Amino acid sequence: MSLIKSKKRVADHGEVFTPEWLVDAMLDLVKDEAERIDSRVLEPACGSGNFLVRVLQRKLATVELKFGKSEFERRHYALLGLMCCYGIELLADNIAECQTNMLGVFADYLGLDEAADLHRAAAYVLSQNLVHGDALTMKTQAGQPINFAEWGYLGRGKFQRRDFRLDVLTGASSFSAEDSLFAHLGKHELFTPLKTWPPMTVRDLAAQLGTEPKEVA
Ligand SMILES: C[S@@+](CC[C@H](N)C(=O)[O-])C[C@H]1O[C@@H](n2cnc3c(N)ncnc32)[C@H](O)[C@@H]1O
Repeated sequence: MSLIKSKKRVADHGEVFTPEWLVDAMLDLVKDEAERIDSRVLEPACGSGNFLVRVLQRKLATVELKFGKSEFERRHYALLGLMCCYGIELLADNIAECQTNMLGVFADYLGLDEAADLHRAAAYVLSQNLVHGDALTMKTQAGQPINFAEWGYLGRGKFQRRDFRLDVLTGASSFSAEDSLFAHLGKHELFTPLKTWPPMTVRDLAAQLGTEPKEVA
């Protein structure tokens, strides 16, 4: 696999993809977190997903180990693993490839065809979690603040979603030092979601696909 698309893109955007062996060596440094189904991973310059795809594969391997015997749990925890992968990417073709690559891994693992509710739910989740935007300004391509969904699995086929602004979340570090004069500031704002959604099933999530403007064309 080529690690560059063109010299111009390398010069303009620093676009050099990470080879699989190096991705794996780096993920091994945080092995437990990379394999935990509900660890949240954000790749702020995700390219076509070389890191996120491997993280998803590791999460799915854990799903298989823990929930392989129950098809219901296997499918829902696989979706939870996908829900915990986030990316930002400046270039439209890269973020679209990232979405395709991740959806392909997910669909292959569960043997889904495109019409399946779970496939559509996964496509919807990826349309929310993979953002075409600028990780430095924390704005989308359309100039709006980047918001991310925090997904959780409530059990019995229901997922919880709360939305947060990335620039507010990343403000966490300024307020976190315990001995800081400002330690008490900002936490309320930080943990106040922009929106809390009602619990949703796979079918509810699938029905959301295409109902909102998407970041990925
Ligand atoms: C060195 S490549 C790495 C891609 C991927 N993480 C990998 O390891 O294969 C850097 C990527 O970051 C993207 N990029 C550059 N500046 C960015 C920014 N401010 N916000 C989001 N993505 C950016 C580029 O388009 C490129 O796809």
